[in-house]
Amino acid sequence: MKAARYALLAPVVFAVFGCRGQTSRESPIFGIRNMYDQERYDIQSESDFFEDKRTMRPLPEGVVSHDQEVDTRISEGRLTDQSGYVLTVPPEAIEKASGMTALLKRGQERYGIYCAPCHDNTGNGNGIIKQRAIAAGAAAFQPPNFHDDKYRHMPDGQLFATISNGRGNMPPYSQAIPVQDRWAIVSYVRALQLANPTLAGVVKPEPKKEAPPAPVHHVEVKADHIVIDQKIQFTAGKNTIAEESNALLDELAATFKANPQIKKVEIQGYTSAEGDKAKNVTLSTDRAKAVVSALVQRGVSKDILVAKGYGPDKPIADNGTDEGKEKNRRVEFLILEPAAPKH
Ligand code: HEC
Repeated sequence: MKAARYALLAPVVFAVFGCRGQTSRESPIFGIRNMYDQERYDIQSESDFFEDKRTMRPLPEGVVSHDQEVDTRISEGRLTDQSGYVLTVPPEAIEKASGMTALLKRGQERYGIYCAPCHDNTGNGNGIIKQRAIAAGAAAFQPPNFHDDKYRHMPDGQLFATISNGRGNMPPYSQAIPVQDRWAIVSYVRALQLANPTLAGVVKPEPKKEAPPAPVHHVEVKADHIVIDQKIQFTAGKNTIAEESNALLDELAATFKANPQIKKVEIQGYTSAEGDKAKNVTLSTDRAKAVVSALVQRGVSKDILVAKGYGPDKPIADNGTDEGKEKNRRVEFLILEPAAPKH
């Protein structure tokens, strides 16, 4: 008998406690309809009740709400006679915050929320929204840099009015930011400008440019020769100049241009004594000609260059050793005009 009574009770217990902690997509059931479910209009929606159909009712003409600021210096940043912007934050705003320190603190916080996304924490105008806008191709979205002179010299009242009314691509913020907070932000922007992010280390100074390495000179003009301390390299047995000699040829060409007093130069090709003499003379002539055309290509006048091949004549080293032969394979630059002074 007792067990049966418990069995009957079980569904009741479950009905009362069983669903707790579970989620449901059904709308809740209210035994008594109370303030959970009021009739209301959505903002900006229409209403047939009013003649102008606006559900958001404007204040009747002439009504001033309790918290509305009537002093235009404070509410608009404009002088009371409307002749221009106030130059500095109105003292009333500083007083209301019980001092500039507190006003700045509030301004820093609000700036971080409302301005930094576009204008950056440093005020340089490069905030995350700007970066994303540029990445998305909206190049016209350019929040300015507050550290530019234009914004350093802008009256405080105009900064205030920009926050209130927006400008260009910047939306107005009078709905989101109360008057007192707008002044706090204006003060903080001033503090940012004074802090000068370059001095404060927020913006890294340009890294010092390292001096370019001093150019290495391989070409020297002597009284009767242009001397090179490297060899012009050719493909073995041919008159093709190797690419690695390009820099040397550049320097040679520059030397010719820098020394217009040099009127005639014989470019002399030499070989080692190895192999057929006639062939060597031909090869050395072809190599001298190749150097002439490489210099002409680099802008040296062909009129001052003469190519001549001497083959194995005038060796400067022993043709009996490999080292000596390598030394004898060379190109020399003999200055014919002006003739070197005789000693
Ligand atoms: C959604 C991005 C965005 C936010 C947030 C934003 N701005 Fe701007 N701001 C801009 C852009 C873009 C411009 C440039 C407007 C133009 O010339 O089209 C601008 C311009 C300005 C200017 C220069 C106006 C002039 O006359 O040249 C000031 C001052 C300024 N903003 C201050 C602020 C302050 C203070 C805040 C924070 C309350 C703020 N902005 C929030 C995007 C923003």
